[in-house]
Amino acid sequence: MTDLLITDARPYGEEAVDLLVRAGVVAEIGTGLTASEGVATLDAGGHVLLPGLVDLHVHLREPGGEESETIETGSHAAALGGYTAVFAMPNTDPVADTAVVVEHVRRRGEEVGLVDVHPVGAVTTGLKGEKLAELGTMAQSAAQVRMFSDDGRCVNDPLIMRRALEYASALDVVIAQHAEDHRLTGGAQAHEGAIASRLGLAGWPATAEETVVARDCALAREAGAALHVCHVSSLHSVAVLRAAKAQGVRVSAEVTPHHLLLTDGRLTGYDPVNKVNPPLRTGADTQAMREALAEGVIDVVATDHAPHASQYKDTEWAAAKPGMLGLQTALSVVIHTMVEPGLLDWHGVARVMSERPAEIGNLADQGRPIAVGEPATFALVDPDAQWTVRGAALASKAANTPYEGMRLPGAVVATVLRGRITARDGKVVA
Ligand code: DOR
Ligand code: ZN
Repeated sequence: MTDLLITDARPYGEEAVDLLVRAGVVAEIGTGLTASEGVATLDAGGHVLLPGLVDLHVHLREPGGEESETIETGSHAAALGGYTAVFAMPNTDPVADTAVVVEHVRRRGEEVGLVDVHPVGAVTTGLKGEKLAELGTMAQSAAQVRMFSDDGRCVNDPLIMRRALEYASALDVVIAQHAEDHRLTGGAQAHEGAIASRLGLAGWPATAEETVVARDCALAREAGAALHVCHVSSLHSVAVLRAAKAQGVRVSAEVTPHHLLLTDGRLTGYDPVNKVNPPLRTGADTQAMREALAEGVIDVVATDHAPHASQYKDTEWAAAKPGMLGLQTALSVVIHTMVEPGLLDWHGVARVMSERPAEIGNLADQGRPIAVGEPATFALVDPDAQWTVRGAALASKAANTPYEGMRLPGAVVATVLRGRITARDGKVVA
């Protein structure tokens, strides 16, 4: 592996330094460092250097949904978005509920080689919520599964959830719950409130999330297990999480960029690009999400990157699949919603988009400090750049971005995975 000299980079937005990388590891940090022969260089131009971003929640659609995304196209989007590791959800076809499927996903990620792809195993066979999948076999397989989830569906049965948490505790893995009591939502996909009523859309009440979060915190406490709550969307869930954390429950939580920025006010045109599960909620909810993330009650930002080919998305509201692209816009949305209003500084961004996700996902060589002896795994960010989002120009196979035409701050200038540049100036480096 060639060595790399990164010049004029500002780690966490601080003083500019040079970093010399040898064999994928930071060997020296200083000023006025020079490259000897054969050393590649990256002029960071005074931009902000962060540890590579880690996403606990993406849908890469492979196997079975290749018309919407593949591990290859999703890896491109991830590298361009500043990500160096992603967790791929198991709602594929076949479902990732066996060692064979999770090993395939991991291997395909390694072949593409742009980002570490960690398969998430299903909690129940076929995501049916009826019978536990073989968690131990998947954990011990070559895929080394460390996170299990039925995402897209809730593990609704409390007895199954209790058993899953007991296994998780024994195996030292985390259960990531899509908190939605299906009995309360009945498949509805608009936030239950004034806007859904006016539009004549069936409502998904916030209580369907909050009650499952409360129940699961109690079950996790009893099992001594690690619980991760996916895509928190309701302000009421925050109070539940805060109380559980205060009691020492091993619970972590994520919020998506869209639940930090977008509200159900967007639903008035019935455009399915705004259909997502859990649904966009009110301004009071987005404000609560921002504050909880700043405070640490919500630990991380995860994209829930959910590509859908146009035949699934460009239809009427009821028929459209829920989900939004996220990998290439997440950092910009976090800058807009959290950094610009002064809720997070660059250390805070590193915490919620890299360090904490790596801890929750149990990744030893991601989310590390920018320091000598640590992996050279970075996202280089131009904080002053502005860009206009165009779905057609994103690397994903699908184009279902809710930010179409929006001007967003901050651009990923380069991504580095263990000393290798994976993206630079908006292009993937193969
Ligand atoms: O909006 C969503 N899309 N929410 C989910 O839980 C699943 C995801 C998907 O797979 O498309
Ligand atoms: Zn989900």
